Amino acid sequence: TGKFTYDPGFTSTASCESGLTYIDGDAGVLLHRGYPIDQLAEQSSFMEVAYLLLNHELPNKDELDKFTYTISRHTMLHEQLATFYRGFRRDAHPMAIMCGVVGALSAFYHDSTDITDPQQRMIASHRLIAKMPTIAAMAYKYSVGQPFLYPDNSLSYTGNFLRMTFGVPAEEYEVDPVIEAAMDKIFILHADHEQNASTSTVRLAGSSGANPFACIAAGIACLWGPAHGGANEAALNMLREIGHPDRIPEYIARAKNKDDPFRLMGFGHRVYKNFDPRAKVLSKAATEVLDKLGISDPVLDTARELERIALSDQYFIDKKLYPNVDFYSGVILSAIGFPTTMFTVLFALARTVGWVAQWNEMISDPDQKIGRPRQLYTGPTQRDYVPVGQR
Ligand code: CMC
Repeated sequence: TGKFTYDPGFTSTASCESGLTYIDGDAGVLLHRGYPIDQLAEQSSFMEVAYLLLNHELPNKDELDKFTYTISRHTMLHEQLATFYRGFRRDAHPMAIMCGVVGALSAFYHDSTDITDPQQRMIASHRLIAKMPTIAAMAYKYSVGQPFLYPDNSLSYTGNFLRMTFGVPAEEYEVDPVIEAAMDKIFILHADHEQNASTSTVRLAGSSGANPFACIAAGIACLWGPAHGGANEAALNMLREIGHPDRIPEYIARAKNKDDPFRLMGFGHRVYKNFDPRAKVLSKAATEVLDKLGISDPVLDTARELERIALSDQYFIDKKLYPNVDFYSGVILSAIGFPTTMFTVLFALARTVGWVAQWNEMISDPDQKIGRPRQLYTGPTQRDYVPVGQR
């Protein structure tokens, strides 16, 4: 002891230098390469944000067209990967399928696994961004027993994803611009978030020289946990379970009770001790999207009332617990028609942009080393082995 700094949960350890994302948790500020998240969410597109994160600057029109075209050239999956899905149970959680299928990509795209070659790294990054919607839509299709749909590159990135998810071969699928815009906004809001647990996982896995597909699969596995990306699924399930604003005090009391492991899902954040700026955008978007789609969901009323009561409760005030990105996203995703099991998959799809951008940044860093934390040893001191008969 004394030799290493003990920092469980890495609350005060900077693991890297990064120029991608800036967070001021006390002020509730989130910037991607300097641009405020609310401006990006309201005015930009997911493809533009992906370009920004990967290439440092916003693209001009030509650069954006070229990037979008390049991504569209990689949307198909190797045909044999479709057979991979059939090995899963129909009731498999789609995140379990995502971990498996994304990890398996490295067995199909050998020509983009040499991480010392910047060209191959970029191709792998484009492949991952392009194939995630196809992989995610196929996970959904498999669960509902409908045929997989091939990508349609005449559509936008997000429109193509919606069609592959909700379209069927028997009918023409019209992309609803309201849904497309809402989905794109959700993707932007999830694109990157500094050194969160899954991004740190991707960096740690990548620091050993592991191939990018395997690293992103590791990120997906980490994201799945309910304290991280799995919270969007858990939050909507919780809101549905609460069911009516009258029952909120009961759940608030449970969240405050130290003997009850229950937490308000979609509340609290390691870094934000103020409103999560992404939650602000989503709170507004939830009302707009439901209005435009003509949907009235009592879950939104429950969410609003829960937020109101929690924010005026001394426990939440003292601990600086505010709604996070996962609190309102589920209301919108559910209005679009996604089952809750798909929520974290959508998070993974969008965060793939941040993961590959962070991974590229790490590999290009001349100071990059294998990530190898140390420990404070708490086990026995040295002792002599005793044969089993004498123990
Ligand atoms: N409900 C009730 N109490 C809470 C909550 C909550 N949602 N979050 C934190 N607390 C309490 C916690 O019990 C602790 O109290 P005490 O100091 O008395 O022991 C205190 O607040 C600090 O919590 P912590 O667990 O030490 O803080 P952390 O920074 O390690 O955890 C967190 C952050 C996000 C894991 C946590 O707030 C949480 O579990 N929230 C619910 C799950 C959730 O919404 N996760 C999504 C995070 S945002 C984006 C993403 O990654 O998906």
